[in-house]
Amino acid sequence: MKVSEVSEDSLIVSSLLKKYNVKPFMPNPNLDKTKISHSLDLHKLKKEIDLSMEKHGRHPWLSADDSSLRYTGFSINYNPNHQDQLNPNASSLGTPKNKRDQFYYNSLQEHEKIKNSYFDTYGFIKRTPAASEGYLSAILDTCQRTIIRSRMMILSGHYFDDQLIAQYKEAKPGDSKFGWHRDEPIHVNLRINIPITGNDAFVFEMLGEEPYFLEPGFAYSWDTNKPHRVWCREKTDLERYNLIVGVSPWFDYFPERDEWLPNQYCGKKDPMEMLREGLIFDWLRVK
Ligand SMILES: [Fe+2]
Repeated sequence: MKVSEVSEDSLIVSSLLKKYNVKPFMPNPNLDKTKISHSLDLHKLKKEIDLSMEKHGRHPWLSADDSSLRYTGFSINYNPNHQDQLNPNASSLGTPKNKRDQFYYNSLQEHEKIKNSYFDTYGFIKRTPAASEGYLSAILDTCQRTIIRSRMMILSGHYFDDQLIAQYKEAKPGDSKFGWHRDEPIHVNLRINIPITGNDAFVFEMLGEEPYFLEPGFAYSWDTNKPHRVWCREKTDLERYNLIVGVSPWFDYFPERDEWLPNQYCGKKDPMEMLREGLIFDWLRVK
């Protein structure tokens, strides 16, 4: 399906799922948390990320209320036709159309047009200048599927004082001001989280489970369509660097024709199985 065939009031992926008659997908609860070791050189990656930010900027999470310095980073991919017309390197870090409490899940009510919005994940198909250099770029180039809205994110521990930590602890699971949110279903966007730095003050929390630290040296993926968040549970001056790569498991993008087509796994193979078998990154598979 050509992107030009998608109407202004539809997400690209919604049109794709409809056109190719993809049945609703139920994730396998036994594969809900996938943790895979890898041998990326994280020291080198961190160094190059810092160099890239010196050159291309370190961008705050953006909303209608403010921009948050506790959550910063840069975009891996951008949409050249993005309706917010942001700096490409910052374009997957929120939208000025939504308030901070409107990032829980697909909050499109402030949008006149849906196509090419922040929430139009399949619009983000072009690599940003910030992610086009050196080791980071080489890692991303090994992806066997199409990378969609993705980012390199930094959570800064020193913004979490006692008061903020207490607010995070007490926040209700629907409150996106304190990080709670849902992402798309994994057959739309399989998100692979690669921790680069951090300590156990920083935690990932899936609703109903104890928060835990994501260890550098591993990559993680979950059914992040369920409510979850990341936060800092104790005072620390450290910064947590995590690369979050979102991939389209079932549709591949062909830039020369500006067209998305279903691949051989579409509707047939669980995206988490694809990751575990090395069909997303061949260096990342369950042995
Ligand atoms: Fe998430």
